[in-house]
Order: sequence, then C-alpha cells, then structure tokens
Amino acid sequence: MRLSALTRAFGAASVAFATFFPLPTVAQSSSNNDNNNNDNSHGQSTFVTKDNLLAFAITAPDSAGRGLYFSLRVHTSRAWGAVGLGKEDMPGSLIFLLHLNAAGDNVTFSPRTARGRYEPEHFAALEYDLLDGTGVDEGGYMTLNARCRDHCRSWPGGAVDAFDPDQKAIYALGALGAPVRDDDPDAPLGIHRDVGVFHIDLRRTNDVAGEEVATRLDDDSVTRGAVLVRSGRGGNRHLQSTFHAIFMIFAFLGLLPAGIVLIHIGGWVRWHIFIQVVAFVFVVVGVGLGVSTSLLYQRARNFRDPHQIIGLFVFGVFLIQLGLGFTHHTRFKKNAGVPTKLALPHMILGHFIVTLGISSAFLGFPFALKGQYMYVLLGLTILVTTVVFGLMFFKKWLQRRANRGQPTSSQQQQPWRAQAGANVAPRAGWGSTETPTHSPPRAFGYQPTGQSSPQIRLSDMSSQTSLGGGGPTNDDLGPAHTPKAML
Ligand SMILES: *[C@@H]1O[C@H](CO)[C@@H](O)[C@H](O)[C@H]1NC(C)=O
Repeated sequence: MRLSALTRAFGAASVAFATFFPLPTVAQSSSNNDNNNNDNSHGQSTFVTKDNLLAFAITAPDSAGRGLYFSLRVHTSRAWGAVGLGKEDMPGSLIFLLHLNAAGDNVTFSPRTARGRYEPEHFAALEYDLLDGTGVDEGGYMTLNARCRDHCRSWPGGAVDAFDPDQKAIYALGALGAPVRDDDPDAPLGIHRDVGVFHIDLRRTNDVAGEEVATRLDDDSVTRGAVLVRSGRGGNRHLQSTFHAIFMIFAFLGLLPAGIVLIHIGGWVRWHIFIQVVAFVFVVVGVGLGVSTSLLYQRARNFRDPHQIIGLFVFGVFLIQLGLGFTHHTRFKKNAGVPTKLALPHMILGHFIVTLGISSAFLGFPFALKGQYMYVLLGLTILVTTVVFGLMFFKKWLQRRANRGQPTSSQQQQPWRAQAGANVAPRAGWGSTETPTHSPPRAFGYQPTGQSSPQIRLSDMSSQTSLGGGGPTNDDLGPAHTPKAML
C-alpha cells in the first residue's frame, strides 16, 4: 500500500513536471503496454488521447506488402484532427488528417506531408481505399477506416519501420469550434491548438490476418500497444496573426485617420508627424508579424494572395509617403513658408494609403479563415468614417457660423483663407494675424509671405488643406497657428 501510494505520488509529480517541462519526458517502452493488454482481439495497435478527442489505430500486416491499415477518429468539436507517422516532430512526417466534408455529413480524408513546422501540404500520391465504418456518428465523431495501398511506409522525406515496436508518431487537434467543412483534401487549415507525441508498436501487428487486418475504433477503444510521450498546447504562433490584425487595424483605423484629422482640422503639424510616425512603427511590426504568419500556411507561403500583395504594396507606398512628408516639411521650414509642390501628392497619397490599407484588412480576415470578424471591422470602419467626416463637417459648420456678419468682400476675395481667418478672429490672437487682407495669387500651400512670422513656418502641413480639388475637406483649412498654441 505504501509503495503504491508512493508510486501514485511520484506519478502525480511526474505528470505535474511533464506539464511544465513537456519536452524532456522520456517514453517508456511501449512493449510494457502489452503486459496489460487483455483485449487485443483485433491485433491492432491503438492510441487514444486522454481527452478522448482523437484516436488512432494501425496494423502493418506482413500480407499487406507496402500497405498499412489504419483508422482515425476525431471529435467534431475540433476544426480537424491528424496523426503523423515517422517522426516526433512535423518535418518529415506523413500526416493523416481528417475534417468534415462540405455538407457536414461525412468526412474528408486529407493525406499530407510536412516539410517543416508549417501547414503540411496535400500528398496526392498516397494510394488508399476508404473502408466500411467511415463517416460521422451521432456522438459527433468523425471516423476514417482506410487501407493504404502504397506510399505510406515510405514517402518523400520520411518512412516508418513496419517491424518496429516503438515507432514515432505525433498528433494534433485543430481549433475549438468552427470545424473545417470542405470536400477538398487540400483545404486551407488553421493552426493546431493541441499537439502530442506518442510511440506505437507496429511489430505486434505484423501477423494479423483475415478480417483482423482492418482497424476499427469506437467509444470503447483504449490505448493498446502505444504510449503517450508528451502532449500539450500547440504553441502560441497563432498569436502572430492576431497581433498582426490588432496592430494593423490600430494603425489604419486609429492612428492614421487621427493624424489626418489633426492636420486637416487643426493644422497641428507636430502632432501629425508624431502620430503618423508611431503609426508607421505599428505598421512595420504588423508587416513583420504578417510575413512570419504567412510562412506557416500553404496558402500564404508564396505571397500571392491579394491581401498580401495589396498589404505589401501599401507598406511600400507608406515608405514613400514618409519620405515625401519629411521632405515637404523640411523644405517648407527652410524656405520660410514658401509652399512646396509635395503638399498635394502627400495628401492624396495619405488618403490612398488609409483607404487601401482598410480594404486590405477586409481581405485579411477571410484569408486567415476568420471571416466572421469582418463585421467587427465593418463596424469599426463605419464608426471611424463617421467620426472623421463628422469632425470635418463640424469644423466647416463652425467656420460658416463665424463667417456670418463678416464683410462680404473678404469672403469673396479668398473664401478658403477668409473663412479660416473669420473662424479664428473671435479668438484673440489665435493665428488671426495670418488672415490675408489682400488677394494673393493662389498657389499650393500659399501662406502670406509678407507675414513671415515663425508661427507660419511650423504650420506648413496645414496648408495642404487649402489646396483645390475634390474631397469634402478642401476648404477645411486650419488656421495657420503655432503648434505652441496647441501643445
Ligand atoms: C461517407 O463516405 C464514405 C466514403 O466515401 C462512404 O463509404 C459512406 O457511405 C459515406 N457515409 C454516408 C453517410 O454518406
């Protein structure tokens, strides 16, 4: 009794240890399992996970030549389930993967090979037949019974030794909920949530004969001729795509529109620069996360999806935009407020970047197999658009209101300048000195040079808003006030 209590305590301790340090755990010899194998009627070796969400059975009869018989049973609470033969890690494994068919009333078997630690690719060369019992049962289990005829004892990149009592194998279970429903054995998949390593005894199945060659699995199946080596969560690489989305949406729907509003409405140049540079940092990190996520998935590894192409294009244009903005700003300061020709391209490019970036986000969610989140994105987009245009129109309305009672001549002379001047006039000293009293020749970012106060120089970016052209904001020019007044 004391010994068994001690054994139990040690067992519990080692389980706890294995939970925190899953890697160094060493497998017991799987032949130990044969000792308590009282129910080996089918002669198959069987592995069942502790949570019973996945089971795998295999026979390697001598009579099967280069073939194998196997069964895979996976609960439909998971997106997919898979077993890999030959290795304790993905690279080089032959993978049998199971998910629902498109109708959801049967299974799709997807044989795959893994070349690295990323989504395995469809292995079309595997020759197999589906056997009786394949389908979905009322308990919500998908079951595959198969006879593999060829390319399952060796495959490009790996092999199993059918006479080995201790063959290496892995398993994985997809995300909770939202099961994959696809008839295509090459369907795009999300990353695994749970993974594990087990060893399975093929030697003990070599002499099965007759009906026993075919494997089967049901609710009563238990682990026989197999041993779990380690199991755990499938890592946190799925967070890469989550943070890619968070960073990008924060940049394109938060920071960049805020930066645009600051320059359009207030002419707050320093804040505009600061916020757009912060946005760029978020975008750089977001691009890094996006690229590293792309390497995990077959559909993304060659960077041919519109989301990736448009996204990288926007990133390139953003780089140009930064250069443009800083060049414009520097020249403007150097020339004491003489307008530069870069103002209009800078503004147009800015709006283009935000629009295209948000469009790209809408393509990103289905690409990540998370189409349902597009409604959140749509809601955010509508909210941000409403706030941005609301602010623009509010500003316009304030200007119009302030204009009432102004001499009509000033409005006729320079509507865009005069409005701004009229707007700020009631607030004493708030850039009102920059209101032109004459009618200057209209030019890009014109600022009355006769009043070359230092105030004007830093307000260069606001001059964009005085440009002609379409858009709801072109007469929303901010008064050319000093950043000091704002900060
Ligand atoms: C499911 O598919 C298998 C293999 O194609 C087939 O044998 C079986 O009859 C199907 N089950 C149902 C319910 O359609």
